[in-house]
Amino acid sequence: MNTAEFDADVLVIGAGPAGLTASALLAEHGTNAITITKHAGTAHSPRAHITNQRTMEVFRDLGIEDRVKELAVPNELMGNNVWATSFAGRELARLMTWGSGVDRKADYDRASPCSMCNIPQHVLEPVILEAARERDAAIRFDTELIEISQDENGVTGLVRRRSTGTEYAIRARYAIAADGGRGTTAKQLGFEFDGEEGLGCAVNVWLEADLSRYTRHRPGTLYWICQPGNDYWVGSGTFICVKPWTEWVMLYMYDPADGEPDLSEEAVTERAHAIIGDRDVAVRVKQVSQWQINHLISREYRKGRVFLAGDAAHRHPPANGLGTNTSVQDSYNLVWKIAAVLRGEAGEELLDTYHAERYPVGRQVVDRAMKSVQDMRPLSQAFGFAPGQSAEDGWRSLDELQSDTPAGRQRREALAEAVALQNYQFNAHGVELGQHYTSTAIVDDGTSLPPSRKDPELYHRPSTHPGSPIPHAWLQRGNRSVSTVDIAGGGRFALLAGIGGAPWIDAAKAVAEEMSIGLVGHSIGQGCEYDDLFGDWTRLREAGDRGCVLVRPDRHIAWRSHDLVADPVSALRSVVRQLLSLP
Ligand code: FDA
Repeated sequence: MNTAEFDADVLVIGAGPAGLTASALLAEHGTNAITITKHAGTAHSPRAHITNQRTMEVFRDLGIEDRVKELAVPNELMGNNVWATSFAGRELARLMTWGSGVDRKADYDRASPCSMCNIPQHVLEPVILEAARERDAAIRFDTELIEISQDENGVTGLVRRRSTGTEYAIRARYAIAADGGRGTTAKQLGFEFDGEEGLGCAVNVWLEADLSRYTRHRPGTLYWICQPGNDYWVGSGTFICVKPWTEWVMLYMYDPADGEPDLSEEAVTERAHAIIGDRDVAVRVKQVSQWQINHLISREYRKGRVFLAGDAAHRHPPANGLGTNTSVQDSYNLVWKIAAVLRGEAGEELLDTYHAERYPVGRQVVDRAMKSVQDMRPLSQAFGFAPGQSAEDGWRSLDELQSDTPAGRQRREALAEAVALQNYQFNAHGVELGQHYTSTAIVDDGTSLPPSRKDPELYHRPSTHPGSPIPHAWLQRGNRSVSTVDIAGGGRFALLAGIGGAPWIDAAKAVAEEMSIGLVGHSIGQGCEYDDLFGDWTRLREAGDRGCVLVRPDRHIAWRSHDLVADPVSALRSVVRQLLSLP
């Protein structure tokens, strides 16, 4: 292969959450990459905002967790999901969400050193960009991909500087297409998608309105306003908190069959006032945009030398708030593999495991998000809203719901059930965290994944079964608390051995030297390098004191051994060669 032929080893197309994360991680690995993105800067509107614990763990690995937390609305202020006839009006139901309720808080706290937060995309992206730039990532704004092609040796992107019209080619060994739902790479290279698009149309109005008096007593992320005379699934308009309690996105659906909505400032301000229910609140519209509900996933995440990441691979409604999260996590899965192949530490086949591992996650996410949208119907039904109903009939229905009558009682039972169903959207901890991979980059230890005792969508079950994310446990090192999640990551493999696992740690050193790979052994247990004072890791590790757990750079368990074996070096060597697709 002629090195001079290439401008970069990796071309990243797009600088949204997926592309920026890829860019920062590639730079962290010292990979020669160029990131191009069409617009002059990062996202100019709030869009995605829910940031889950797994994504925060990625940010922790990049050293930006604290910065994200500084700028985000913290978990304590995310909780109340409110359904009401207006901010000033009748409240109909409430649910504590995103693990902030008393019944779920411990589950969330136990599962990760990180907490969920609410950070709008236009605030988050500059933080990831800064992380990429600190690592000297080459990011070219104002640079649009016009055409892409690939051959046996590499990928060629024809790009255009939008401000000058200058066109030039970038040649790279691999490309990561992180150009979002409207990107061109997947189309040009003939990636095929399953699913449907245009399942609904939505308007986002980003606005300023001081709603402190209506929200301080019930701080939350989403306020669903359901006004009688409107039966659509998201009600009359949902307010998404951008900045407590003065900045919001007002989201509402419309049916294009009824004509395009009036998006003039007067019309959207009028709507905002109707939803707030208080005309004395000053409303200042910052931006209006439209988007569509899609339910799509690419059949393949890889074609030759091109990989799809983020919305370029999967598109789904915002329900469950998994869009940005899945996008960031796609890049976290992919980048260490590309870096390992480029450094000659792994075989090309390792790159196939990206599809094998991330497609099932994408499939689950798009289906879950779509189902969550459908699962909101029972709420409208429980409120007694029906298509074509007059506002008077809608109010009568709400009066009945809140009446001391047999019909009222029955309706309240239905409402309680409909609200409980929303846990699959707002407290779906198993979906958020429980991604278990099966591929050739995971080495079977002869056991099967233990079955969940609880609903696997709602509850995350930590396990060290190969393919699982590393379970979190707090450990002590000197006077510092360290999570098992922190021991892993950092672009390297980590081998975690128990109190009697010194031969495993020696084996890790030997294999790392022999194969020139980043692999470090650590002991965890009473009086070990990391002290397991609470005994949590001992309970979670599903291996003995003389066993070990091998963790990949993306913090998924690659393999484990329950006990010592006769020749730990050869056992570990064989496992590492297998998972890196080496002969
Ligand atoms: P994204 O679309 O963000 O970025 C694509 C990038 O590619 C952009 O930088 C663009 O400029 C660039 N690009 C496109 N074409 C190009 C070309 N030809 N050449 C060069 N560059 C090109 N998600 C979530 O996790 N939590 C949430 O709460 C929500 N909420 C939410 C609400 C609403 C109303 C919407 C519409 C969406 C959400 N989402 C969400 C989804 C979320 O916004 C979306 O999933 C992510 O932005 C996807 O990130 P990507 O980086 O994949 O694509």
